[in-house]
Amino acid sequence: MKPEEIQTILVVGAGTMGQQIALQCAMHNFTVRLYDVKAAALVTAQSRIETYAQDIVAQGLSTSERMQAALARISAINDPAEAAAGVDLLSESIPENPTLKGKVFAQFNRLCPSETIFTTNTSSLIPSMIAPTTGRPERFVAMHFHTTVWISNVMDIMPHPGTAPEVVEILEGFGHRIGQIPIVLKKENHGYVFNAMLNALNGAAITLAANGIAAPHDIDRAWMGVMKMPLGPMGILDGVGLDTAWEITDYWAGVTRDPQLQANADYLKRHFVEQGKLGVKSGQGFYAYPNPAFSNPDFLPKA
Ligand SMILES: NC(=O)c1ccc[n+]([C@@H]2O[C@H](COP(=O)([O-])OP(=O)(O)OC[C@H]3O[C@@H](n4cnc5c(N)ncnc54)[C@H](O)[C@@H]3O)[C@@H](O)[C@H]2O)c1
Repeated sequence: MKPEEIQTILVVGAGTMGQQIALQCAMHNFTVRLYDVKAAALVTAQSRIETYAQDIVAQGLSTSERMQAALARISAINDPAEAAAGVDLLSESIPENPTLKGKVFAQFNRLCPSETIFTTNTSSLIPSMIAPTTGRPERFVAMHFHTTVWISNVMDIMPHPGTAPEVVEILEGFGHRIGQIPIVLKKENHGYVFNAMLNALNGAAITLAANGIAAPHDIDRAWMGVMKMPLGPMGILDGVGLDTAWEITDYWAGVTRDPQLQANADYLKRHFVEQGKLGVKSGQGFYAYPNPAFSNPDFLPKA
């Protein structure tokens, strides 16, 4: 397969990331199929994608004509066989659970053409953990995006030892074609490059909150006030989704048996996930949306 032969993208999982990846690919002239196991998630995704599209046009990053054409290139499909037919590249964004991801890749291995490249957008796993279940390990790689995809436009490409080198080259070309800065990792690493740095910050912030050292808004004020950043770790976590943050923290607490990580996972679960406070996507997390307190000038008075 040549890089230019990639034309049709299947995005599996229509949540926070699947919506953004689908729109980014469509804005760069690719045909996109957006699949989710839940029909209701596809309905929500279509409305969120339209809101993103309006914001992008309002920010002057595209015109309404180009955006209408992009939206017309996205089909939301609830039937896996129909979604998989003839696709060149699969980008998976389902929950951060290696067993579930493995099952879904095995399912799509039976449905997609044999040359389709399979990619995972996992945040914290490594592709060699999932590769054997994909049925096509040489055509499987992690291709990881950062939210918000058209603004934070860095895309990690992380092969596992069995990935064919030509697949990495094709995806590097693909990254450029969808307006991303591709970063090719030389070795597998949990958290890639940027997330390896960010996770350390976010983990320290959750530890401070879970241990009652400081209030979440003050933890953000400390980071924002010193670093002169527009948002702090709690605001970032709201954007990631507190359910996703909990899943990742809980998974690693189980793997490492680190009691502080488990306390952090339990804090996220008890105070946020169990109460439906999932961050930006539910309208409430550490902050209330759409007008979070950290964007108010009073949040961080100037010196
Ligand atoms: N949220 C972020 O900022 C971010 C950034 C980069 C990577 N990631 C990673 O991307 C992945 C998805 O995260 P998200 O935040 O978009 O999650 P999300 O919870 O917002 O969306 C997940 C979607 O997957 C769907 N799903 C569940 N089981 C499925 C199945 N069997 N088949 C098809 N669809 C299924 C769900 O219905 C849901 O719509 C995770 O691995 C996460 O670690 C997240």
